[in-house]
Amino acid sequence: MLTIALAKGRILDATALALASAGYPVPNDLAESRRLILEDDSRDVRYLLAKPVDVPAYVEHGAADLGIVGKDVLHEKQADVHELLDLRFGVCRLVVAGWPNTDVGAVKRVATKYPRFTTDYFRRMGRQIEVIDLQGSVELAPLIGLADCIVDLVETGRTLAENGLTPLAELGTVSARLVANRRSYQLRATEVDAFVEALRQRSGGAAS
Ligand code: PRP
Repeated sequence: MLTIALAKGRILDATALALASAGYPVPNDLAESRRLILEDDSRDVRYLLAKPVDVPAYVEHGAADLGIVGKDVLHEKQADVHELLDLRFGVCRLVVAGWPNTDVGAVKRVATKYPRFTTDYFRRMGRQIEVIDLQGSVELAPLIGLADCIVDLVETGRTLAENGLTPLAELGTVSARLVANRRSYQLRATEVDAFVEALRQRSGGAAS
């Protein structure tokens, strides 16, 4: 049985759609369900429902053979996994954002869930900043003066707009990726390849 770790939250609905179109349907109530392991005996797969930031660890350590998770998390966690496909959903921009009049070149404190992206970006600008490492609702930080700006994902732009904030600079775009445990990729090549091919052909994924 192949074990596949899925990221709960933002990309779960799109993940379920991609799996269904690849011939691996998952229950409709996946997002609402409290179950953490779902088995599909007829297709010989089971799914682990994990927090996005934990998916790379499940795959790296072999608790899952495969995982579907955002590139933002993969980059941030630097897990030793094999990245197989860009699934082309869950596309978001990673931006510096803040009050409209903020000078990005002069900020000192930056709040983010992405300390690695943030430090790298400001280092490339030749700036040393203090990173305030938060776990969510990062937009709060500039609103209450905890940070001068944030580095965060923007999908629709609603969260920024509804809080009077605006994108100030773009670091890049991210999307969902299919990753494999390195050992599973070698030892279970036939099963892994069948799954990868199904996703590639039916969901339009591309080698990443
Ligand atoms: C993400 C991101 C932004 C928001 C952007 O947070 O960190 O806060 O979504 O989406 P939008 O542009 O469509 O408004 P998420 O919903 O993953 O939750 P979090 O704040 O708890 O991290």
